[in-house]
Amino acid sequence: MNPDRRPLMAANWKMHKTVTEAVSLVESLQKETGPCADREVLIAPPFTALKAVSDVMKQKGYCLGAQNCHWEEKGAFTGEISTAMLKDLCCTYVIVGHSERRQLFGETDETVRLKGAAAIKAGLAPVVCVGEVLEARERGETFEVIARQIEGALKGLSEEQMAGVVIAYEPVWAIGTGRTASPEQAQEVHAFIRGRVSSLFGKTIEKNVRILYGGSVKPSNIDALMAEPDIDGALVGGASLEVGSFKSLVQFNF
Ligand code: 13P
Repeated sequence: MNPDRRPLMAANWKMHKTVTEAVSLVESLQKETGPCADREVLIAPPFTALKAVSDVMKQKGYCLGAQNCHWEEKGAFTGEISTAMLKDLCCTYVIVGHSERRQLFGETDETVRLKGAAAIKAGLAPVVCVGEVLEARERGETFEVIARQIEGALKGLSEEQMAGVVIAYEPVWAIGTGRTASPEQAQEVHAFIRGRVSSLFGKTIEKNVRILYGGSVKPSNIDALMAEPDIDGALVGGASLEVGSFKSLVQFNF
């Protein structure tokens, strides 16, 4: 296994869990899974639970991330959260450009790029999300959309800055629908993304960048997805909200 591509199982809790619920879930998970040496577990609770989750997160292999950030360092941006604030709470990752933020909150490739660059500058690893909507897939435009999102989000970064970046491929039609991309469909797009990354940043980054799959990942499909050569982990919504299902995902078989 390439140590730079240690599998990453990421829980995106979206707008779920009060502080009490978040602490209880992360404590149970850590107890159930035990230390994780050959894989990494990322928990991304809502902003309101970051501090409490950070305080109880002790298990080896576990790390903390936020679901969004603003690109400015500080200022009059009511309701926004800066990367320094996230660092202060021991976050090491931040998700940027999730399709829900693109579709519901007007995020563009340009704001995703600004957020990713701000995260890297602050020492956070951005998890940059890309993914096509169903109509684009049906029109045969998947690769075009993904190429545009990848270039839009990553342009201007140096090879060195790319070293910590994680990419998540989440086909919008598979999110929360129960309709997972088949391992072959996911692999095809992951290989395409790795190819785009190679032409933008060279062979070393191509070899080392982690590309996660997201969209109705469940205990029943994780092993087949993770068996694909270009799938390095999962970004999980629904199945990350219960101890039993997320534990099964964390404990997928190589
Ligand atoms: P589901 O796992 O609920 O489909 O959500 C995927 C997702 O959006 C993770 O970021």
